[in-house]
Amino acid sequence: MLLLTLLGFVVLTSGNVLRNHKFGDILIGSNDFATPCSTNISNTWVNIFLMIDVSTSMGTANLRQLALSLSSEFTQLSIATNSCQPHTNQIAVITYSDTANIVANLTQIQSHQDLANTLLSLKISNSSSAFGIAKALNLSVEVWNDFDFNDFCPTDRVNVFVFVGASVNNVDVTFVENLPFIVNHQSVITINANPKDAVLTQVFNYISSPSFNLSMADKNVYKDFTWALTQANCDCSSFEQLTAFNTTANKWQKYADCFQLYSFTGYHDPANSICFEMGRSTDATITSTVKENFVRQMVKDWSNEIPIWFIGLHRNAQKKWVWTDYDGSEVPVGFSSLFSQFQFS
Ligand SMILES: *[C@@H]1O[C@H](CO)[C@@H](O)[C@H](O)[C@H]1NC(C)=O
Ligand SMILES: *[C@@H]1O[C@H](CO)[C@@H](O)[C@H](O)[C@H]1NC(C)=O
Ligand SMILES: *[C@@H]1O[C@H](CO)[C@@H](O)[C@H](O)[C@H]1NC(C)=O
Ligand SMILES: *[C@@H]1O[C@H](CO)[C@@H](O)[C@H](O)[C@H]1NC(C)=O
Ligand SMILES: *[C@@H]1O[C@H](CO)[C@@H](O)[C@H](O)[C@H]1NC(C)=O
Ligand SMILES: *[C@@H]1O[C@H](CO)[C@@H](O)[C@H](O)[C@H]1NC(C)=O
Repeated sequence: MLLLTLLGFVVLTSGNVLRNHKFGDILIGSNDFATPCSTNISNTWVNIFLMIDVSTSMGTANLRQLALSLSSEFTQLSIATNSCQPHTNQIAVITYSDTANIVANLTQIQSHQDLANTLLSLKISNSSSAFGIAKALNLSVEVWNDFDFNDFCPTDRVNVFVFVGASVNNVDVTFVENLPFIVNHQSVITINANPKDAVLTQVFNYISSPSFNLSMADKNVYKDFTWALTQANCDCSSFEQLTAFNTTANKWQKYADCFQLYSFTGYHDPANSICFEMGRSTDATITSTVKENFVRQMVKDWSNEIPIWFIGLHRNAQKKWVWTDYDGSEVPVGFSSLFSQFQFS
């Protein structure tokens, strides 16, 4: 009981602050332009670590429902038969209650039938404790490390940590504190099998990535799960990713727009931009309020140190102000009062 009270306190005091700090207050409206991420589950390329609570709180009925629903929902997901295949996914299954066990590492599940068999074979333990959740997370990392060391082809899969839980009975508060360091900015999806449990709900809302906190009480939970996987798959790696609150969907949503601040010395030539030399990048094209707000937020801490900003807006050979588009072509200015405090090249 002491542990749970403490956990509740930690979550209450830092939850909202962290969320707002991470993404600011950028809202996206129906008329705002940003590049949507694919929502096609057939194109994802991720490692999924399914950590499933098999304590008595989960119960046999929930566990069976989960197994059947996931097996059916994942039929569109490509499962890797060999780790080197691009645009295929690997799924590890780990169960926990008072302790945790690896049921399948990243290479054991090679077909939809394997997945169904693995999930349908899971059994509820004889314990009501979820103490093993911390070990389950560590086992995910272990499974990933084992895989990584044994593999000789480059794997660009991003990791997605999924907790399917029914309680946080006996969970040690250090689990919540350590999780961000272990997960290290990768995606966390939570599926809450017992939304009436206020502490579980609070913990899962806290540890999940924004809007990746799903509830089994929601009839769209498995659709939302596949949506979250496509969002997790849409990843800018080390770049800053445009993320905004979609007021229609009532969700944080990632977009396929990646930004990077880059400093250089010398003269800037938009026709032969330094960005083109850096892979498939272009100067920042700020064609909507949501992008403007996002870039403003990115440069906010820098603006006093860096005297001159170069973005995609420039005067072309005809002396007209234009933006540089992703392919290097020109887009006329259609959006006023941008970045007026900055100097343009
Ligand atoms: C999803 O992607 C797959 C594989 O690339 C493709 O065959 C399918 O038509 C796509 N589905 C939709 C709805 O776009
Ligand atoms: C639960 O099962 C394990 C073996 O699976 C056994 O060692 C343990 O004593 C059991 N605990 C209870 C409380 O029945
Ligand atoms: C999990 O790993 C973290 C960091 O590596 C460690 O501090 C913690 O004790 C581990 N927890 C368990 C239950 O193994
Ligand atoms: C996964 O487990 C199988 C069966 O236990 C084992 O043969 C294989 O080496 C493991 N793979 C990795 C990458 O650890
Ligand atoms: C997810 O978390 C947010 C923020 O804490 C909360 O407003 C929302 O109700 C949660 N959703 C579910 C399904 O629990
Ligand atoms: C916001 O969410 C709605 C509903 O899911 C979707 O139709 C719309 O395209 C989203 N808007 C943007 C700008 O992504």
